[in-house]
Amino acid sequence: MDTKIANQLLTKLSNIRSPHELYYGGIRLQQSWTTLFVLERIFDENKDITAIVELGTGHGALTAFFGLHMKNRGRVLTWDVDDSQIEWTKLEGLPCQFIKADILDQRAQKWTCEFIANDRSLIFCDAGERDIRSKQFHIYAAILKPHDVIMIHDYKNSIQDSDVKDIKDLQPFYQEMFDDYRTFILSRIKV
Ligand SMILES: C[S@@+](CC[C@H](N)C(=O)[O-])C[C@H]1O[C@@H](n2cnc3c(N)ncnc32)[C@H](O)[C@@H]1O
Repeated sequence: MDTKIANQLLTKLSNIRSPHELYYGGIRLQQSWTTLFVLERIFDENKDITAIVELGTGHGALTAFFGLHMKNRGRVLTWDVDDSQIEWTKLEGLPCQFIKADILDQRAQKWTCEFIANDRSLIFCDAGERDIRSKQFHIYAAILKPHDVIMIHDYKNSIQDSDVKDIKDLQPFYQEMFDDYRTFILSRIKV
């Protein structure tokens, strides 16, 4: 598709603020559509990312998206305290694993550490409400290895730059693109 037309289309899509109108693979998506566009580009340009951890599965549309991108390439681990909404399992053959647990539980942190130990990894923080957003980012940023990536939704609403500015050795990662498309994702890489 012509780049100019694609950019116009994406700007229109990024104006859709109600994520409940969006579906991915028939599953309700709790992200903006443009988040998927930026992630797709990141996976294309960073082929060595082979382990993804999602904190907060919800319905699992993003889990399915991650799974499709990691197929024949890597693995996905997704956590949620509640398994009652999960729908991603209706798609077969994805390299995804779900664990029902509180992501603030130390065992979840330990298992995540083991899961990402030997791969360049991306941790996507999307569990719970405003009160645990900053906390989960701090906890999981602490287990990253150099070149690993951490992202968090709902940037500028539930978490601000000031909440993460004191974390050592983290730099913006494709942040301009996420911002341009108003994805409400904060994205950092461990250096
Ligand atoms: C916004 S939804 C996740 C959406 C999903 N990542 C997506 O993009 O489609 C947030 C989820 O976090 C889960 N959650 C809340 N607190 C949690 C905790 N302490 N540990 C694990 N999951 C939690 C909720 O059950 C809910 O399903």
